Amino acid sequence: MTSQSAYVYATSSTTEKEIEKEAEAYERLGLNGGYAASGDVALPFEWKNAVVMLDQAQFHPVKYLQGLLAEFLRLGGKVYEQTRAVEIEKGKQPVVTTKEGHQIKSKHVIVSSHFPFNDFDGLYFSRLHVERSYALAVRVRSEIPDGMYLNADKPSRSIRYSPSPEGGKLLLLGGEGHPVGHSKQENLQNYEKLADFGDRYFGGTIDIPYRWSSQDIFTLDKVPYIGQMRTGKDCVLVSTGYAKWGMTNGTAAALLLKDLILHQANPYNELFDPSRSEWKPASIKSFVKENANVAKELVKGKARRQDRMLADLGPDEGALVMVDGKKVGAYKDVAGHCHLVQPTCTHMGCDVEWNNAERSWDCPCHASRFNYKGEVIEGPAVKDLSKFEGA
Ligand code: FES
Repeated sequence: MTSQSAYVYATSSTTEKEIEKEAEAYERLGLNGGYAASGDVALPFEWKNAVVMLDQAQFHPVKYLQGLLAEFLRLGGKVYEQTRAVEIEKGKQPVVTTKEGHQIKSKHVIVSSHFPFNDFDGLYFSRLHVERSYALAVRVRSEIPDGMYLNADKPSRSIRYSPSPEGGKLLLLGGEGHPVGHSKQENLQNYEKLADFGDRYFGGTIDIPYRWSSQDIFTLDKVPYIGQMRTGKDCVLVSTGYAKWGMTNGTAAALLLKDLILHQANPYNELFDPSRSEWKPASIKSFVKENANVAKELVKGKARRQDRMLADLGPDEGALVMVDGKKVGAYKDVAGHCHLVQPTCTHMGCDVEWNNAERSWDCPCHASRFNYKGEVIEGPAVKDLSKFEGA
């Protein structure tokens, strides 16, 4: 772990004003930071102003989680991987059923599966939205500065470094976020834009050994939902909506859920309560927009005909195509074998879309993901896409 300064910087006059307000907030709250001195900001391009938070931890997330896991196991905890929960029967002792039909009875159940798969309980599907963002690890020719940088403008840019397994440093570049299923460009182009940015400002690219994308969940007011799934004596708890701050919000969630289960007071109970009233103007706007988007996708997906046919697909290409007059999700693998699925999402029925960067079927409504064979990768859907047998 190293200690780094974390900066948020502006490149436009609109966000310049926001940074001023942010600096005032730092001062009011007595945070360890404030306005960044221009000599401290080591960005290789023009910027207007910046705030800095000093002495922030930069660490390897997997090593951190491995440490937590080892401690959990040492204390007698058990972890079952590849075990999908598909149902929760409530009661004094809720019962969780797995895809294979096994049942687990427990005093408390915590649903922290990103988008709750039993979301009809608290209508979470209407109160959450999911965004995808992209990241590259790039070997560049110029010196990579210390510090962690986030811009306040669009498109978003996150700049920092990681030690490379082969020695030296890798530039980590993140950004190009968009609501899942609503990218203005092909998913691969999001990576290309990040690569261009690194190439332009960091002396040219030697190679890009790693790239990945992530899906992050946001609540209406951007504060996570942590607590009882529904108010009352519910023994089913939820934690979600970490809004890209999973390491910190996940830790806050663990502390709060522990107190809830042990009936101990916690000053953050109300703040994170999933049943809190969120009906402030900004939240209402977000609620209306999200649900209008879902309604639009439901209609648009069904009404949209495809012009492409199965024969149009090249190797390693996927798309919605027409087969025997029906719309079908098709992926042709490198050997030329076609994998056909029904493109209707098993969560609430929106049409899925092909993601050419990760070779998955992604749902634009609540961000369920399925692999090219139609198997669930990420919920809230718990059932695989149906195979298309008609070709
Ligand atoms: S994830 Fe909700 S309809 Fe697909």
